[in-house]
Amino acid sequence: MSRPEILICRDPSDLAARAAREIAATARAAIAARGRFTLVLSGGSTPEKTYQLLGRGTAETDLDWSQTSVFFGDERFVPPSDPGSNYGMARRTLIERLQLSEQQVFPMPTQVADPAAGAQAYEATLAEFFGVAPGSEPPQLDLVLLGLGDDGHTASLFPGRSAVHVRDRWVTASPPGRLPPPVDRITLTFPILNRARRLLFLVAGQNKAEVVREILEESPAIDTYPAVGIQPVPGTVTWLLDPAAASRLTPR
Ligand code: 6PG
Repeated sequence: MSRPEILICRDPSDLAARAAREIAATARAAIAARGRFTLVLSGGSTPEKTYQLLGRGTAETDLDWSQTSVFFGDERFVPPSDPGSNYGMARRTLIERLQLSEQQVFPMPTQVADPAAGAQAYEATLAEFFGVAPGSEPPQLDLVLLGLGDDGHTASLFPGRSAVHVRDRWVTASPPGRLPPPVDRITLTFPILNRARRLLFLVAGQNKAEVVREILEESPAIDTYPAVGIQPVPGTVTWLLDPAAASRLTPR
């Protein structure tokens, strides 16, 4: 696995702008190389400003959305209209602004019997999109956006939860972790995350500084800080940090 790339931005606004530029550049390269771009959005609050910038489509963040398919790394098991819905936040900030079609946006299903059924359905959606059998070797997503909780979770892979150890499925269900909202989740698993061509963490805030330091400079157990399990092969991982989140790192 290649060493993580660490980029420390000037402030949260600079982080959002840098993330938008990184996404656009990755998209242009993917479309040039393979004629399409598969993007996985993360939830939470940090990426919201990045999605708004992408939704505005400035020259630096312009990309060919007609060749882009949008997926989700995790989802709260709530209706899209719920304030906690990751899809709802992406729809409001990006999807509606760009008028992306339903044929190119793949929300995780949360209006099914239960999270396990939603996870199984999403794995089938991914398998059909990529033309591979569910449960076979995971397909290669071009870019996965990730956040980090101050408990060390990423996507909805929470400390001490069994989803962290799922190796035979690309998507699974999980009970909530320690951090709000206390709702069941659907999440991509490490096998498909670590097959991605590129993963991009967006992390801001002093409350994450210690967990960032331990993940990047120590070797914590995956059950302690699941984000340490993001070790793509042969892909790459970049950490976009604001100064507060990077404040405990050893100066290089
Ligand atoms: C979610 C996210 C989650 C998020 C982190 C960071 O559904 O909550 O996918 O993994 O990225 O919890 O969230 P913030 O950006 O709000 O700190």
